[in-house]
Amino acid sequence: MKTLIISSSLSPNSKSFVLCKKVNQKLKDRGIQTELIDARKIILNPYHITKTKDMEDLSNKISLADNYIIGMGVHNYSVNDSLKIILDNCFKNVDGKFFGIVCAGGGEKSYLSTMHLTQMCMNEWKMIQLPRTVYASRNDFKNNEITSKQVLEWMSLFCDEFAKIGLKLIS
Ligand SMILES: Cc1cc2nc3c(=O)[nH]c(=O)nc-3n(C[C@H](O)[C@H](O)[C@H](O)COP(=O)(O)O)c2cc1C
Repeated sequence: MKTLIISSSLSPNSKSFVLCKKVNQKLKDRGIQTELIDARKIILNPYHITKTKDMEDLSNKISLADNYIIGMGVHNYSVNDSLKIILDNCFKNVDGKFFGIVCAGGGEKSYLSTMHLTQMCMNEWKMIQLPRTVYASRNDFKNNEITSKQVLEWMSLFCDEFAKIGLKLIS
């Protein structure tokens, strides 16, 4: 199974990228073939502006993957702007595919902000989401490293479930 991990934040100190990197390692440890996309290395243009070569390459990778982990930062209780660009422009051949969400927010109470991503993926592409999400706030990090034991334990459960259900859905 080919799992594409899409870290969508453009922040130089992105915490959701730190979460994605850790999830990437944990899935690799479970024998899953993964690729980690770092949106900071991609030139992204909004819809109605010419698509960049990077965006076309990302669309191709998304088309070919079996399933996805989507990393987002919370912006105004919703998805970050660069993730919206990726969804609007690069989500191709994703219909019915499985995905999981990892999310970083500033506050501890913004975890329901992932629901907007759930809505988009389910309504537009009938994708199937792993019910467990990984959410971490600024208090779960120190020097941009995860310090919360609870977040790490939760992330391990998330990876166990993602690997188990992901494999079942493609077999
Ligand atoms: C424009 C903007 C809006 C934000 N809105 C929220 C918010 O509504 N709730 C919240 O908890 N954090 C909010 N934050 C804080 C971010 O969620 C936090 O910095 C998080 O680490 C972002 O993920 P990233 O580090 O991967 O970019 C906001 C940050 C920005 C820049």
